[in-house]
Amino acid sequence: MKVLAVASEVFALVKTGGLADVAGALPAALKHHGIEMRVMLPGYPAVMAALKDAKPVKVYGDLFGGKGRILTGRAQGLDLLVVEAAHLFDRPGNPYLGPDGKDWPDNWKRFAALSYAAADVGSGEVAAFMPEIVHAHDWQAALTPAYLHFASGPVARTVMTVHNLAFQGQYPASIFAQLKLPAAAFAINGVEYYGGVGYLKAGLHYADAITTVSPSYADEITTQADGMGLDGLLRLRRDRLTGIVNGIDTDIWNPASDAHLAQSYVPRNFIQRREANKREVERRFGLDQDDGLLFCVVSRLTWQKGMDLLVQCLDDLVGLGARLAMLGAGDAQLESDFTQAAARHKGRIGTVIGYDETISHLLQGGADAILIPSRFEPCGLTQLYGLRYGCVPVVSHVGGLADTIVDANEAALEQGSATGIQFAPVDVPSLTRAIERSVRLYADRKAWNGLQKAGMKTDVSWEKSAARYALLYKNLLHRS
Ligand code: ADP
Ligand code: GLC
Repeated sequence: MKVLAVASEVFALVKTGGLADVAGALPAALKHHGIEMRVMLPGYPAVMAALKDAKPVKVYGDLFGGKGRILTGRAQGLDLLVVEAAHLFDRPGNPYLGPDGKDWPDNWKRFAALSYAAADVGSGEVAAFMPEIVHAHDWQAALTPAYLHFASGPVARTVMTVHNLAFQGQYPASIFAQLKLPAAAFAINGVEYYGGVGYLKAGLHYADAITTVSPSYADEITTQADGMGLDGLLRLRRDRLTGIVNGIDTDIWNPASDAHLAQSYVPRNFIQRREANKREVERRFGLDQDDGLLFCVVSRLTWQKGMDLLVQCLDDLVGLGARLAMLGAGDAQLESDFTQAAARHKGRIGTVIGYDETISHLLQGGADAILIPSRFEPCGLTQLYGLRYGCVPVVSHVGGLADTIVDANEAALEQGSATGIQFAPVDVPSLTRAIERSVRLYADRKAWNGLQKAGMKTDVSWEKSAARYALLYKNLLHRS
């Protein structure tokens, strides 16, 4: 079976978050199920530079305001279809933001073009690759099912995956005329959304199947409280909506062979060997060297991730004798709050503001616990990396965090099934209590090592979830 995945970011070519990890890992995971997946993405400079064996397979005289082509090629072990359109994608830096840190004003055009080209592939216009399924990820690819709905002839079946309902691609009605959709599409049963155009809304309306990245998040987004304006539509389409939890790439994230670590390790020797990584974390983050609990954070610094709550807990965290190594970037206010906390608590709190792949691995391999106090979390990947690396996840009880971590309550500890610490509700007092619980549990080193061992034994690979996607695709093909 041939499947075209459509995504705006793909690891290791371009990444701002977990979507890239997922889009980059799925093709290999699905290969075992007889699925040939190619990924379509925009021709950003980093993609064009890495692309090998590029061949044009479709040419556009005018693709949303300039010339464009679809190229096939390979990069970083992936089979790609690249939308080359210099007027839209030949811009350095972040894929969504200009140098002023704001969304590019023509993002609606950039990602309409991506979806438009994807629909051409999905309707069999590109002989080099004729997919039976088109799998669109997030709002940037979400017009694809809409374009395919209005395409003529036999077209691929569509899957729309929601990685984050907070990002919807919402634009004024005035852009509609330029989207190359029939007038009839501007309707409540179409792309119209609160009087404007909603890209994700369109995808959710037109797709044959909808998925999100954990079963709990699938439930949450059908409620008014967490549906972000789309819960009505999602309730209507509940029978088409499933939650499939993300896996991780266990080659890239493998403590036994991770070149980013000071010291690699396996479950048999992790207790001694992680020490060397802890020392390296202390060195890089300017922290005191001691045997107390070392927390880390690897995160976008945003409201979603609950980082403002953590800022308010930092004095207590230090008061309990713990330390924190924080790697993150995002909201200017949060960046400055963490930097100030580090200045106030020299040797106890260290920060690296920025995006750094190497340090993100080192923290998982050297810190004792990773703090993830998200207000909502569709799946979350850093807790899965934490499990695999013996870096105990301390997480809020929401979405994918609730689905992937077993709380260290008495019963679970006794059975040896506990893998982390969960807290609810998502507020400062309960996060503070989770930090206290962690410190207490860490003092009982045997119990703590038990948590680490259970985590390292947990299957966080793509195996089970890839089988679910494969089944979903097959069922779609067999549905008349
Ligand atoms: P989200 O996609 O919402 O940001 P996920 O947990 O799904 O959350 O994925 C985040 C991904 O981005 C992980 O691979 C994580 O390691 C990585 N990441 C986040 N912030 C940084 C950072 N500052 N430096 C390096 N990697 C980061
Ligand atoms: C989004 C979500 C995150 C999820 C990732 C990959 O960025 O915020 O929870 O893990 O997508 O699916």
